[in-house]
Amino acid sequence: MSDDITKPWGGRFSEPTDAFVEAFTASVDFDRRLYRHDIAGSIAHARMLARVGVLTDDECRRIVDGLEAIRGEIERGEFRWSTALEDVHMNIEARLTERIGETGKKLHTGRSRNDQVATDMRLYLREEIDAIGAELRRLQRALLDLAEREAETIMPGFTHLQTAQPVTFGHHLLAWVNMLARDAQRLADCRRRVNVLPLGAAALAGTTFPVDREFVARELGFEAVASNSLDAVSDRDFIIEFLAAAATLMMHLSRFSEELVLWTSAQFEFVALGDAFCTGSSIMPQKKNPDVPELVRGKCARVQGHLVGLLTLMKGQPLAYNKDNQEDKEPLFDTVDTVRGSLRVYADMIPHITVNRERMREAARRGFATATDLADYLVRKGVPFRDAHEVVGRAVRFGIEHGKDLSQLTLEELRRFSGAIDEDVFQVLTLEGSVAARNHPGGTAPAQVRAEVARLRGMLEED
Ligand code: ARG
Repeated sequence: MSDDITKPWGGRFSEPTDAFVEAFTASVDFDRRLYRHDIAGSIAHARMLARVGVLTDDECRRIVDGLEAIRGEIERGEFRWSTALEDVHMNIEARLTERIGETGKKLHTGRSRNDQVATDMRLYLREEIDAIGAELRRLQRALLDLAEREAETIMPGFTHLQTAQPVTFGHHLLAWVNMLARDAQRLADCRRRVNVLPLGAAALAGTTFPVDREFVARELGFEAVASNSLDAVSDRDFIIEFLAAAATLMMHLSRFSEELVLWTSAQFEFVALGDAFCTGSSIMPQKKNPDVPELVRGKCARVQGHLVGLLTLMKGQPLAYNKDNQEDKEPLFDTVDTVRGSLRVYADMIPHITVNRERMREAARRGFATATDLADYLVRKGVPFRDAHEVVGRAVRFGIEHGKDLSQLTLEELRRFSGAIDEDVFQVLTLEGSVAARNHPGGTAPAQVRAEVARLRGMLEED
């Protein structure tokens, strides 16, 4: 045994715990992160016990004061965490008894660590979802500001990473904002199922004490009380759902990252990141590497791994609580840290992006991005779309052979491919004409981008 601390469950044991087993089974090194939530849950539980007459008001007051004092000790770094006491719950409870004496031993009446830890995890995750939501909104606002500024900026839109049609950079950025808006919705939906109270389930079957679970739920801000005690102590769906939402969010950030890595390369040069968000090379003096996007793209992998990890953790477990469940913590904590860090660095980085409008425009011009506009023009002149497609294809081939973009061909050259082409064709071949023509909700026209920025800003204010 590592020290002389008596285990709260030591009664039925005649031999001490093997020293390595003690270290192997302990979770206090990581679950101490739950201390505030553990104390909040214990205070609500104690108040409830007093309300139903299991504790006297005086006992309750001493327990609450003791727990608040312990919170202060932890926050000031004065608390001595013990591995022999396994986890955050038993560490705090043991310290309570040390501080206030026998009354401390009454706190755990009608409760088990099984419903306690499930409650702590839900309180913790609820708070983190709110913090992640705030960071998500900050990033969305930064993207909306940039989108508004770049509402008219023309860039090539891609499919298959080949130049497809011109789009506005603002429109492209709003695609990102839309992805993040869905992430925010997923997290808000997940939060409703996180916000359910397990306490009262005790070890697995409920308790013989006349607990008032509704009171505890109100004290802790839970919207509902878990309605089956076995499910309440063993359910980790709420973590899996959160991890799924987090993995999707990280997948989105990873996709943005991939685009930024491409766009900052010498081959694209569409944008530049602020120096404060890049690093150099120890050997190649010219290098400015987009480390932040690269790392965020990489961090997506660990969150995806945690999602699969938790699904696998739960898949073979019989009801109710099993010690396996202790393995839910590190993946969840790491996911929260990774998502918060990635959102934070993105929200900080976006305002420091400089946009190379000339390069974007030039890339759109070179790639025959207005070919579809020419085909649509011919359709409006009465040519069936399939024939128009063929005509434009031949014009593009001619342009490639002569090193000219469609808008650089003369009317005479264009008319070789179709007699339906007139002087007015040149309006549709301009990049500005092309984007302005896609002027419907969801389209790339600058007017639509501005309207969308306003709508999305409004949605953010309502949250
Ligand atoms: N440290 C444990 C966990 O994280 C707390 C619950 C322990 N319950 C038990 N019956 N051993 O899951």
